[in-house]
Amino acid sequence: MQKNCIILASGNGSNTLNLINKFYTGKTGSGLINISAVVSNTSYAPVIDKVKKTAPDIPVFTIPFTFLSEREAFESRLESIIEKYKIKFIILAGFMKILSKEFVSKFPCKIINIHPSLLPAFKGRDAIKNAFEYGVKYTGVTVHYVTSEVDAGPIICQEIVKIDDFDTVESLEAKIHEAEYRIYPIALEIALTEGNPHVN
Ligand code: GRF
Repeated sequence: MQKNCIILASGNGSNTLNLINKFYTGKTGSGLINISAVVSNTSYAPVIDKVKKTAPDIPVFTIPFTFLSEREAFESRLESIIEKYKIKFIILAGFMKILSKEFVSKFPCKIINIHPSLLPAFKGRDAIKNAFEYGVKYTGVTVHYVTSEVDAGPIICQEIVKIDDFDTVESLEAKIHEAEYRIYPIALEIALTEGNPHVN
């Protein structure tokens, strides 16, 4: 049975577009994932126009959330969208804000995030740059459930990315994105089919 999902994104939206191309057009994937809506917290996010162009049927909502003081209103509006579209899973794809503990606790194992490092290494912002500057030889991508602790929920899938001597932050970023585009759709299918092995 198809499961309705909502994507939250704040920026460029390349992962959002990748997921839409995989699932919305129905060309690949098991048909399990239905992307019902996209939400951005800022009207400046390039993801908004990209989704509108690629998938005009998918409703895109902008709910302002730049400052912490806006979080409560953001989450309350988001909840009403979740209810309206009968959303089963919340997919974070470059969503740069932290959801409240209260919100997260309402959706256990239903919020999924992608992070550009091999967690638990290099949590937080600038994970790619931080891994590069630290000098690690391998970094990667992690897809995990969201819990109230940032970048610390149960891991669904990881992919290793090698940092070669000739890499720059930019070339590493490109390699990380390629890994993200491979792993996120697969991880979502696993999570939506099998649930959370840490809980079930
Ligand atoms: C990705 O690197 C993702 O891992 C991180 O934010 C970035 C979003 O990129 N959480 P995009 O907006 O999907 O292009």
